[in-house]
Amino acid sequence: SMGPPPSRLPLLAALVAAALLAGAAAATEEAYVTLLYGDEFVLGVRVLGKSIRDTGTRRDMVVLVSDGVSEYSRQLLEADGWIVKRITLLANPNQVRPTRFWGVYTKLKIFNMTSYKKVVYLDADTVVVRSIEDVFKCGKFCGNLKHSERMNSGVMVVEPSETVFKDMISQVDRLPSYTGGDQGFLNSYYADFANSRVYEPDSPLTPEPETQRLSTLYNADVGLYMLANKWMVDEKELRVIHYTLGPLKPWDWWTAWLVKPVEIWQDVRQKLEESLPGTGGGRNPHDQLVVKFLFILPFCLLLFGYYQSCFQNKKDFPSVQSLCAFARRGRHKYKSEEALPSYLAVGVSSSTFSTSNQRISNGPHLKLPSYFGAIAVLICFMSAGVSLAFAFTIIPRQIMPWTGLLLMFEWTFVAFFLLFGSYLRFVYRWGSISATHVGYSNSDSSENHMGTGHQRNISDFDMEATFYWTGMAVIAVITVFSPTILGITALFTKLGLMVAGGVLLASFMTYASVHLAISAFHKGQKDRNGYSLFV
Ligand SMILES: *[C@@H]1O[C@H](CO)[C@@H](O)[C@H](O)[C@H]1NC(C)=O
Repeated sequence: SMGPPPSRLPLLAALVAAALLAGAAAATEEAYVTLLYGDEFVLGVRVLGKSIRDTGTRRDMVVLVSDGVSEYSRQLLEADGWIVKRITLLANPNQVRPTRFWGVYTKLKIFNMTSYKKVVYLDADTVVVRSIEDVFKCGKFCGNLKHSERMNSGVMVVEPSETVFKDMISQVDRLPSYTGGDQGFLNSYYADFANSRVYEPDSPLTPEPETQRLSTLYNADVGLYMLANKWMVDEKELRVIHYTLGPLKPWDWWTAWLVKPVEIWQDVRQKLEESLPGTGGGRNPHDQLVVKFLFILPFCLLLFGYYQSCFQNKKDFPSVQSLCAFARRGRHKYKSEEALPSYLAVGVSSSTFSTSNQRISNGPHLKLPSYFGAIAVLICFMSAGVSLAFAFTIIPRQIMPWTGLLLMFEWTFVAFFLLFGSYLRFVYRWGSISATHVGYSNSDSSENHMGTGHQRNISDFDMEATFYWTGMAVIAVITVFSPTILGITALFTKLGLMVAGGVLLASFMTYASVHLAISAFHKGQKDRNGYSLFV
């Protein structure tokens, strides 16, 4: 007897499943691909991924990661929606070439991604600003022509083929590479690329050419933008921006202050989801911790210094002391006009610059060495340079532009205050030692003090110190912000304005450092002679 007729349901189910699978396969036949060699570029890949997703694509996004990429970064990219594939570096035959090209031949591996019919490759320092789905229809190999003759490998459309890949590998040793990397090699491999026709999505060529050129819109070079301070192409038509400027990568906080188009990159970055805890807005939990610490520490230092000099009468730090005195004076003025004991003490212990000058000319035994001013200026500039370098070194590179700038100000000022302040303290001690040696007596100037009254003396010295310190800070801040305030976006105008501000700052620092040092010296001399009520 015949068995029951086979149910049609499983067959139908199988057909539907096959159809679905075919559909899924079609959707994943094409992919966006990027390469990641180390953790430094992870933020770049995250932003690129976000920008691709924002165009509404449903194609795969594949990131090929080499051994230099940490486990955490791989998890983060997977959480962002990337398909992470580990690869080994394809050795670069040009071993003598710069180390930055180490492993760049790895890029050739995208020609071996034969599980996809077509891949659109994008460098990690690019960002997609409008949908580029139309380039998937481009032929076997499409790229951009840059610098008139050369093909730029930052954005490419590739039809993976084991034959092509094997052919390339067999020629890697033979063909020259003008860059020492993949770009130079590809220029040699596709020697006739400069003559290829421009790809037009609406009118594909038949038969399909071996190579085709993509319009500049698909690989708009920020370097060229910087030259003219505008895009050479219609800005609304832009598809991909390529942040090519070597040391000015969009993820470093300072770049946003110099390169206008980084705004676009930062906008995408700020919209990054929190795929792993603490990674929203392109943040990094480790950097966040460092930033918090760096923000708070200077305030703790300042409070400590204030406490030491105001309440423990450790008055041998002229700069902190003058700030305290200034604060106290303000407080006092607010309360009453009557002189407080502490107020008197500061007043009497302070010297005035006018009397300092008199003493330089009047008392031969108090003369400062001729190189005194030059050394003060030298140390002031060295302190400023070291402070800048120090601040720059300790601040994490990939934080937000505003956070970076504020931290930079905070730490440069604090480090400068400590360094140059220490020098002034040294000069102050030197002053007090020299006073002992020459048996300096200030009985003559004490009359002067009494005559003019304490109130004027205190304001003279403290106002002077406060004026110089805040003057330097204000000019520094204005120098940095002047292009932003004036709305200047052109890099060279911006730099020119900053240089002008820098010259102004340098002049003021020269003036301020000499005066602060002379004041500190004379203050040391005075305090040594029991003139101060602090002693
Ligand atoms: C190229 O792809 C094939 C097939 O996926 C694989 O077996 C081979 O190892 C790849 N070659 C290299 C150098 O990655």
